[in-house]
Amino acid sequence: MKELELACEQFRTLLSEQLERVAKMNDEKVDYSAKDVITIGIVAGDGIGPIIMDQAVRVLHKLLDDKIAAGKICIKTIEGLTIENRLRLGKPVPEDVLAQIKSCDVLLKGPTTTPMGGKMESANVTLRRELDLYANVRPVCIPEEGIDWVFYRENTEGEYVLGSRGVELPGMAVDFKVTTDAGTRRIARAAFEYARQNGKNRVSIVTKANIMKKTDGKFTAICHEVAENYPGITADDWYIDIMTANLVNPAIRNQFQVFVLPNLYGDIITDEAAQIQGGVGTAGSANIGDRYAMFEAIHGSAPRMLEEGLGDYANPASILKAEAMLLRHICCAEEAQKLEAALAACKTVVTGDANGATCQSYADSLMELL
Ligand code: IPM
Ligand code: MG
Repeated sequence: MKELELACEQFRTLLSEQLERVAKMNDEKVDYSAKDVITIGIVAGDGIGPIIMDQAVRVLHKLLDDKIAAGKICIKTIEGLTIENRLRLGKPVPEDVLAQIKSCDVLLKGPTTTPMGGKMESANVTLRRELDLYANVRPVCIPEEGIDWVFYRENTEGEYVLGSRGVELPGMAVDFKVTTDAGTRRIARAAFEYARQNGKNRVSIVTKANIMKKTDGKFTAICHEVAENYPGITADDWYIDIMTANLVNPAIRNQFQVFVLPNLYGDIITDEAAQIQGGVGTAGSANIGDRYAMFEAIHGSAPRMLEEGLGDYANPASILKAEAMLLRHICCAEEAQKLEAALAACKTVVTGDANGATCQSYADSLMELL
């Protein structure tokens, strides 16, 4: 069958590309504290993106204006990562936009719409790959329940890396999942380092290694290898199905601290975790690599809110939490702390509809607390 030959040929190409990707990985980390100027790129995205980003930028200026005036921080607005532009050019991230993004150190990014089906890759996935942002860090905190979770989701491999490049034969479709030693080692190290530096004594490894024997089997084994370098920290194994149940079990859920998990499971369980905290609009998300980092809202572009004329009621909490993570990442710990404290203290309630405050009035109240 001709299709079979073509599919085998494609598989060979994919395998060699993946081997090349791994060969290029290195661990050189940028030191932000040693940089003269740090450039923060602002990418508003689509749907409610520009609405929440306007407020996030106002807050950023209020926190950083001294450092901007002193030339230590530069804020650069990057246009063109909109669904209209991406569809027009047929590129998930147009080349000129990518070049501008690469001229920054870190990004604050609004949600970008991913067309369902078709060939177009999600802009998020493209950016995570192009900038090699391998650690998706998603904290979820519910102090009154003693919950303080941080998810370390592998962000460049698994089902995502070849997600738009599966094969189809007549009557059949196949997608691929890729797990590498080097890719797993770096996310495991990031999770255990976080645990060590933040006084945590447990890292839970979450996979489905009983079924995905090769890929998740490798993920588990490498995480345990890394764990050997962290004697005070327990590494425990869980399957994703039972962990999904554990998170809604109030009797045990506050015992978990740090999670490390492959890409797709991390995607799914972090929405669940965010919902437990109060909704996907309440969680921030950091995509960290050794050279670049991108901070974003965990939720999507909410086109339905715009269709219903409710855009102004979008909740900026998620992007603001991401902003606090960005500030911490670029060694502005004091500003990050201020923003986190204001977010925790702000009593204005945004409900996503006309019963709650608008995005702007929420930001107004927050600014008064800064
Ligand atoms: C996320 C999102 C993305 C993902 C989408 C937008 C591609 O759900 O950041 O969790 O699946 O990773
Ligand atoms: Mg998701």
